[in-house]
Amino acid sequence: MTPSDVKATLSFSDGSPSMDLPLYKGTIGPDVIDIRKLYGQTGKFTYDPGFLSTASCNSTITYIDGDKGELLYRGYPIEQLAVNCDYLETCYLLLYGELPNEAQKASFEDRVMHHTMVNEQMQFFLRGFRRDAHPMAVMTGLVGAMSAFYHDSTDINNPEHREIAAIRLIAKMPTLVAMAYKYTIGQPYIYPKNDLSYAGNFMRMMFATPCEDYKPNDVLVRAMDRIFTLHADHEQNASTSTVRLCGSSGTNPFAAIAAGVACLWGPAHGGANEACLNMLYDIQKQGGVARIGDFIGKVKDKNSGVKLMGFGHRVYKNYDPRAKLMRETCHEVLNELGLHDDPLFKLAMELEKIALEDEYFVARKLYPNVDFYSGIVQRAIGIPVPLFTAIFALARTVGWIAQLNEMIGDPEYKIGRPRQLFVGATARDVKPIAQR
Ligand code: SDX
Repeated sequence: MTPSDVKATLSFSDGSPSMDLPLYKGTIGPDVIDIRKLYGQTGKFTYDPGFLSTASCNSTITYIDGDKGELLYRGYPIEQLAVNCDYLETCYLLLYGELPNEAQKASFEDRVMHHTMVNEQMQFFLRGFRRDAHPMAVMTGLVGAMSAFYHDSTDINNPEHREIAAIRLIAKMPTLVAMAYKYTIGQPYIYPKNDLSYAGNFMRMMFATPCEDYKPNDVLVRAMDRIFTLHADHEQNASTSTVRLCGSSGTNPFAAIAAGVACLWGPAHGGANEACLNMLYDIQKQGGVARIGDFIGKVKDKNSGVKLMGFGHRVYKNYDPRAKLMRETCHEVLNELGLHDDPLFKLAMELEKIALEDEYFVARKLYPNVDFYSGIVQRAIGIPVPLFTAIFALARTVGWIAQLNEMIGDPEYKIGRPRQLFVGATARDVKPIAQR
């Protein structure tokens, strides 16, 4: 980061000493005001619940321009990566900073595809869950449990441990997600097949049975791979910030990623794709397109607590570029499956059209985000709704790891420890219970 010639001066109307604060410039995006010395010099904290105006770190991985609706992974536009690269190339890019050449890609793929099996003991964890457990409850447990098996990759401060932990997590997430799914439907687990592509292997572990050969549909496999790429990383979102904060204590990579899985589950974050599809089902049940007006009316009524799931974003105040790519993927998959008249897709497109013309959404710059169409395309591929967020977690694992490793590799990193504005009771004495 480059010191700016501009300084910020903080002054107080009560005559307290003013303070010069240095500014830093990035390569693109907003400058930052360095407040690291603020408390030491003024005895005051900044106040920014939800971190709307706070840069928690400097990073070289992902850049988002919310006004332009722009998303770059290591400088490459998501539109180009989604079309010209596959997910493992994108993983290589996010982890190492450059796209791989042929040889590097082949070697990386070979390493990942030879770490796809999980320890046989892990299957016994699943037996502890009810069959109807939510897959994200299972995944939170299984990912954390990985730290009980891979003791040669739990020291987060050891670069070799970080490297093999990254490969293991990327390689094993599809196996664990497929196991979580098979467990809920009472089918036997399908072992990974290393001669398949990453996404093809995932589809086979999800949908194959021991009773017959399974031939993945190439269009669906390509769509699945693109869905992984679109979800791979997204700057300092809630779950990535969780992973960074968790990892800053020096805990092992598996525990830090498990914390990210837990945070992603929330409906305001990665759980929005499941919530969005359930929202579309509800509108469909109540009468479909004819009921959109009533539904939008509820969304605009603050007291209803109803939100248009899959719409709005903390950073994007324009179209989420991933939503456009997801809608195109939707078209491809539905056409491939002969479902171009899919009523849910038609309902989603009509809902999007009406919302984008409605003043409530226009005034608040609310646009479709990555979750608006991802549920429809995953449902068309055959993914059950409760598994959508687990697939988001599978895809985001590489982003979490890249961000965690970037933090740990930064010699300036410290354990994260925010402060607060205390508005509670001042010191007081405990009274004997008879006097309370
Ligand atoms: C993801 O951060 C990331 O990068 C996340 C993510 C990633 O890849 O990691 O992009 C993935 O989490 C995408 C977002 C998925 N969530 C949803 O689709 C859930 C629905 N969206 C909302 O809950 C909401 O938009 C958030 C949580 C996404 C953003 O919340 P903010 O920042 O608090 O929203 P805002 O400040 O922009 O809201 C401005 C106004 C408010 O109304 P007013 O108080 O001004 O009257 O818009 C309203 C909000 O109430 N609003 C919505 C709305 N989203 C915001 N009203 C109805 N429906 C919505 N979806």
